[in-house]
Amino acid sequence: SPASKRSLSTDADGIDKVAVIGAGQMGIGISYVAAKQITKGLQFVDTLLGKEVKKGKMNNEEANRVRSRIKAASENGLQDGEFAEVDLVVEAVSENLAVKQTIFSQLATHLPPHAILASNTSSISLSTLAASAIDQKTGQSRARQVVGFHFFNPVPVMKLVELIPALQTDRSVLETARGFAERMGKTVTQSADTPGFISNRLLMPFINEAIIALETGVATKEDIDTTLKLGMNHPMGPLTLADFIGLDTCLSIMEVLMRETGDSKYRPSVLLGRMVSAGYLGKKSGQGFYTYTAQPPPPPQ
Ligand code: 3HC
Repeated sequence: SPASKRSLSTDADGIDKVAVIGAGQMGIGISYVAAKQITKGLQFVDTLLGKEVKKGKMNNEEANRVRSRIKAASENGLQDGEFAEVDLVVEAVSENLAVKQTIFSQLATHLPPHAILASNTSSISLSTLAASAIDQKTGQSRARQVVGFHFFNPVPVMKLVELIPALQTDRSVLETARGFAERMGKTVTQSADTPGFISNRLLMPFINEAIIALETGVATKEDIDTTLKLGMNHPMGPLTLADFIGLDTCLSIMEVLMRETGDSKYRPSVLLGRMVSAGYLGKKSGQGFYTYTAQPPPPPQ
């Protein structure tokens, strides 16, 4: 079975080649950390490497070696066999169920039999995604090889990976994914496949409440953020953090929490919905609760 092949591997965790689907801020960050750690993404990767060289954390030769490990695949990469040797793939496209389902069915059809299919989803059910991992040629399900592998932005800095088994996930697949996340230098927590997992079940209602406080006139945005920053030692206030994550992402996660639990405590703030409708998506669009002049390097997907 794919699982037994994996456990017979001579590598520590058997993961040598990794594919990342999605070239937004999460996809590029994951590629960067994976490439950096795999033996002891692309203008943006150069920028990140340039910074490390400048700080003296890496010399030019090491930076070139890391860069050479990242290869951009073509649009048809899966069909064209460019992923033929991949051991683990991390899907990091936007939070759209239909898009992710299509990708999982393509991955199940084209990846080598032993490969692990991981998703960086922040709120979509892994059991639902796993159910779409069906090899289109044989009709066989690869649900047992699907696992949630949730990173945090900025990926090179944040030390956590949240691991989420689908109901279908093989234990050995879960353990291999855990080992690989640890090899990437991350600490791992494990969550059941419930809406928002641990992280966003707690973070998003907190951010949403800050937006409701703003919309109901409790305080100015600056005072809300400063209170949490200086009063609770948060690195960013909740409204700044919402802009950093993307207001569309915050709204879509609140909508998943609300829809899947039916609990009104997860009602997204009206202001949040209006801002997304207006195209005020936070840092990536230049306008959110705050105004940003410089655009970030990677384009949104
Ligand atoms: N990529 C790579 N490295 C970055 C970076 C980026 N985008 N942004 C900052 N860094 C690095 C800097 O180079 C610096 O590295 P150094 O210590 O080696 O010099 C270090 O991070 C600190 O950066 P700065 O001094 O410029 O800035 P701050 O000290 O203000 O830290 C921050 C910036 C790390 C972003 C900090 O404000 C922070 O931790 N904010 C909260 C982030 C957070 O909560 N993220 C999780 C969001 S939720 C999520 O992603 C899940 C999803 O499902 C919603």
